[in-house]
Amino acid sequence: MRLVCLLGFTIAPALAACPYAQDAGVHVGSSANPHANLARDTIPTGETPAVGSATASSAAGKKGVMLMNRISPAKSKLYIANADGTNERPLLKNPVYEYHADFSPDAQWISFTSERNGDGNSDIWRVRPDGSDLQPIVTSPAVEDSAVISPNGTLVAYVSTANNFEANIWIKDLDTGTEWNITDTPANRADPDMMHGNFRPAWSPDGEWIAFSSDRNTIWDGHGRPSFNGLAGWEHTQELAIYVIRPDGSDLRLVTNRTRYSLGSPKWSPDEERLVFYEMTRNATYDAHRPESLANTSSAIVSIRLDGTDRRVEVDGPNVKTFPQYVTNTTIGYHVKGGQNDGLYHTDGTCYTADIRSPSWSPDGKLVVYEKVDWSVRPLYKKLYSWDNDWDYRFTYVFPQLSSDELIAVTHRQHGDASILTFDTNGNEVLSVYSSSDSDLIYRASATHNERGAYYPSWSPDGDWIAFGVGSWFDERDVHGGWIMRSTANGSYTEVLVDSQLNLTDGGKLNSGFPSFSPDGKKLVYRVWGPNTLMHNDGTEIGLRILDLETRKITQLTSSWDNLPSFSQDGKLILFTRKINPTNYDICTIRADGTDLRVLTTSGANDAHAVWRQDGKIMWSSGMYGFRCECALYDRTFQPYGQIMIMDPDGSNKRPLTNSIWEDSMPLFLTRDGF
Ligand SMILES: *[C@@H]1O[C@H](CO)[C@@H](O)[C@H](O)[C@H]1NC(C)=O
Ligand SMILES: *[C@@H]1O[C@H](CO)[C@@H](O)[C@H](O)[C@H]1NC(C)=O
Ligand SMILES: *[C@@H]1O[C@H](CO)[C@@H](O)[C@H](O)[C@H]1NC(C)=O
Ligand SMILES: *[C@@H]1O[C@H](CO)[C@@H](O)[C@H](O)[C@H]1NC(C)=O
Ligand SMILES: *[C@@H]1O[C@H](CO)[C@@H](O)[C@H](O)[C@H]1NC(C)=O
Ligand SMILES: *[C@@H]1O[C@H](CO)[C@@H](O)[C@H](O)[C@H]1NC(C)=O
Ligand SMILES: *[C@@H]1O[C@H](CO)[C@@H](O)[C@H](O)[C@H]1NC(C)=O
Ligand SMILES: *[C@@H]1O[C@H](CO)[C@@H](O)[C@H](O)[C@H]1NC(C)=O
Repeated sequence: MRLVCLLGFTIAPALAACPYAQDAGVHVGSSANPHANLARDTIPTGETPAVGSATASSAAGKKGVMLMNRISPAKSKLYIANADGTNERPLLKNPVYEYHADFSPDAQWISFTSERNGDGNSDIWRVRPDGSDLQPIVTSPAVEDSAVISPNGTLVAYVSTANNFEANIWIKDLDTGTEWNITDTPANRADPDMMHGNFRPAWSPDGEWIAFSSDRNTIWDGHGRPSFNGLAGWEHTQELAIYVIRPDGSDLRLVTNRTRYSLGSPKWSPDEERLVFYEMTRNATYDAHRPESLANTSSAIVSIRLDGTDRRVEVDGPNVKTFPQYVTNTTIGYHVKGGQNDGLYHTDGTCYTADIRSPSWSPDGKLVVYEKVDWSVRPLYKKLYSWDNDWDYRFTYVFPQLSSDELIAVTHRQHGDASILTFDTNGNEVLSVYSSSDSDLIYRASATHNERGAYYPSWSPDGDWIAFGVGSWFDERDVHGGWIMRSTANGSYTEVLVDSQLNLTDGGKLNSGFPSFSPDGKKLVYRVWGPNTLMHNDGTEIGLRILDLETRKITQLTSSWDNLPSFSQDGKLILFTRKINPTNYDICTIRADGTDLRVLTTSGANDAHAVWRQDGKIMWSSGMYGFRCECALYDRTFQPYGQIMIMDPDGSNKRPLTNSIWEDSMPLFLTRDGF
């Protein structure tokens, strides 16, 4: 996880020279400072882990604890302010964790999403703009988000993952309490084998229609460099189109789509003749939620007539522009996120720098509500919402592994000098076993990517050793080294088991990482990556290898895009993730002798990061239920659609263990008396 400086957190409203004013055809003075905020993506060094309270006792009445990782802000708080950023105050009297607020058309209410029923459980609520009269609208274990109140105040449209874990548009009648979905009806259901999420509903001013965005009937596809065999990267992107539908689910119509573009967050013009939305390339939906690329990614604000004619680019140019909304009959407000131009903008040329997310303007354009987020890391063992009453869900850092001595090893931080930590099952006795900032095995000259560190601990069966990889990962694996190491559990002694070079060269040693001990302690399975993989389209330098710890002999197990291997408890099977085709990763098993390959997942979405549970079931992260919000609206996540799943070792009985709007992964069960 990344700890992030919050220096730019305090809003400093400032009339600034708007970088897009030229595009909007408006002249502004050049004397004001457009860089009022400090960069928000600084990755500091020297992070000390914060440890939450012990849990053994708080798990009373439960079978135990499920540890997991979540990528979402640690805190999220709603504010209301004048549209020029002045008079900002917290919206709620007792804020907990809120986001995605929206003014009702009569300005009497603000609807929003809250996780006050548990970290990770999104529900929808409403409150008066003065912070009084807080009320739930829909609270369920599913995701409820993006609530918008109808013009006459009787209906609420929202996104919910109820019943089938997929993002559908739902309506609730506030008078009768009735709820119905309008996008998963027999007439409107999308092709289940393609992407099929529905997002960000918006009422027409007369209350007769709802506009929304959807990736329905588009292909699963990834971003990234077409580096090997024309394969694109592994995080999936999103191609959204704009639709309208009636609140009873009739008359579903496509308003506009554009091949390999994402058109999102529609809003109506006051005269009901146009829809305004953001538009970016499909590829940019990944870059728009990554801190290293956000500032260099762009989108346009576009409007179009309801019949799909008279398309107008309202604002173009650099930076990610989202959340467009007509604030007068002719002026559109929107949000710029990323880099030094973050803030609230109007197409009339005014703008106010502010480190905020998800603005919504009042119908008269005079007030704005938004959230500010804090990306500090949750304390270890922080309580999360539990989707299974038998288990307490708690937060952990990534790749947790349990030893026979009941110690947990993790990768601390996901990027940038990640290290190996251990702690006991109550989250106490935290020990740094291997601090990669002290390692001379890591190539450090390029500070841009930060894709390095000590990763993926695995305990020897006697608990005496921890094996892990040290080096450069992700894109940096192409050129820089990766070593398999082992360390005594107390960190006093480390040794290299599989060597590498700092810089990989053709014909040289490989980048090796992600080791897992065999249950007899005699072998390690791990993955390799060589420079020839990129240069010669050659499969011989990728795949899984097995190291015999006594003879130090290495044998090749597979030669495909395989990673994250782990031995089963009986030593017979190896579980791993494979790139099955250019756009899809799946969970596989293979016998330790290289026979009997089985592909256990079949969705067009990515399935990855599989681990064995102690009872022999397989847990992993899957995108099979699709995005839960528009991809471009996330921050700092990699695969925001990821939810934790469990299945039998033959691939049967798949079911989800989480149902959040966030990227959830890396489960580890700590059980008292089994499952
Ligand atoms: C949506 O409603 C239809 C009935 O109109 C029903 O068949 C379908 O199961 C519902 N989908 C969900 C996810 O509840
Ligand atoms: C309120 O508006 C909805 C459509 O937005 C409509 O179905 C409903 O009949 C209206 N209710 C009243 C009381 O006018
Ligand atoms: C997609 O974006 C990545 C960076 O995230 C870039 O390397 C790649 O060239 C882009 N691909 C296309 C087809 O634009
Ligand atoms: C728009 O969507 C329709 C219906 O899904 C599809 O047939 C068409 O190819 C799409 N057009 C573009 C430009 O993507
Ligand atoms: C804005 O548009 C609405 C609906 O078309 C109209 O009733 C209203 O008079 C317009 N307001 C101004 C200030 O032009
Ligand atoms: C972003 O763009 C600027 C100027 O266009 C360039 O200097 C900088 O290196 C780019 N940053 C990244 C991360 O590509
Ligand atoms: C660390 O563990 C090793 C091997 O188990 C042991 O020999 C050594 O004495 C321990 N060191 C400390 C400081 O406890
Ligand atoms: C590794 O390669 C980089 C260029 O990619 C070069 O700047 C650096 O000096 C090399 N380091 C070593 C130790 O060879």
